[in-house]
Amino acid sequence: MAFTFKRQIFGFMDLLRFKKMVPKRREKLAEGSSAPLPKTYRVNETAKILHPGYQSAKLTRIEQNTADTKTYTFETEHPFYFRAGQYVTLGCKVGESEVSRPYAISSAPKAALGRRVSLTVKKCGFFSGYLFDEAKVGDVFTLGDPSGDFCHEPVKDAEQLVGLAGGSGVTPFYSMAQAIADGTMDCALTLFYGAKTEAELIFKKELDALVSEKFKVVYVLSDEEKAGYEHGFIGADLIKKYVSGDFTAMLCGPAAMYAFADKELASLGLPLRRIKKEANCVGVRDIPPQTYTLTVHIGFDTYTVPADARETVLTALERAGLKVPAKCRAGGCGFCHSKLVSGSFLVAGADKRRIADKKFGYIHPCCSYPDSDMELIVPKA
Ligand code: FES
Repeated sequence: MAFTFKRQIFGFMDLLRFKKMVPKRREKLAEGSSAPLPKTYRVNETAKILHPGYQSAKLTRIEQNTADTKTYTFETEHPFYFRAGQYVTLGCKVGESEVSRPYAISSAPKAALGRRVSLTVKKCGFFSGYLFDEAKVGDVFTLGDPSGDFCHEPVKDAEQLVGLAGGSGVTPFYSMAQAIADGTMDCALTLFYGAKTEAELIFKKELDALVSEKFKVVYVLSDEEKAGYEHGFIGADLIKKYVSGDFTAMLCGPAAMYAFADKELASLGLPLRRIKKEANCVGVRDIPPQTYTLTVHIGFDTYTVPADARETVLTALERAGLKVPAKCRAGGCGFCHSKLVSGSFLVAGADKRRIADKKFGYIHPCCSYPDSDMELIVPKA
């Protein structure tokens, strides 16, 4: 094949420009300031303040909400930027153990910019029990970054949210109701809040005070007949009675409530993309006691710790006083992601690891029960 080349005037001009490029650059460099570049930039400083990783938080107030629920208010070191519906990991040293647990944030995002954040805790499990019985005003804790996607996503979710809350699962919805009231969250929320009795309802007075055009609350009692309340469980008929049009359902409560709500929401023809559930922490496995040994590599150090087969690998590490990364404690965030060198384990509930994690031997210690001695490489916290 024969090629024809055309002489192009513009190509010639490009060459001229190229020739001038070096002297022009020298000229521009000479014009520049000789002052050294700043060590940090304002945008990085702001990012550090908004997302410090971990920060200390001083307990400033404890309020009893119900017989087994208290709200703890902390003053944070930095403004604490979060979205209504998110959770945060609270931790401290209890005896020889490094303990932490995620709690949904019950205060408004606006208040947190003023360095005030509240967590509502139901008395159950080791750390919550410690908070309930031992924590006092003035104590200092560690607070992680806010996490989780149990939030309204304007692009993906309907403009109307339907919240299904069971017991202390009302916590993130209380934060949302405050955010709707102060205008920092732009959607409507109808909250169905279920409890056994009226006395077990947390934040009833506060929620009632927030009722508006955009926020409604329906209380549902399962074990008590009382005027002014709905009774039984939160089902399709009840939702149809109070809600019309398109909505995104957000569920926060015990696993039994999710199983019941799944069927009810399916009967309403709600597509799965319109259903969000807040994950529950992994609990204790119901098997006879059995102790295994974990060999754990963190950085250049190696530790040998005992592990109770009924508790997760993460709990064993914390009981041994090791500081290891953890946020959701439900297999969802991947923060505790660790390399398994040897040993066997059982995943609690659904295995939420990525395909690549399974292929290359990574586990989530937060939702893995040891089934033999194990060797692990765990990232530094
Ligand atoms: S702490 Fe979130 S996956 Fe383990």
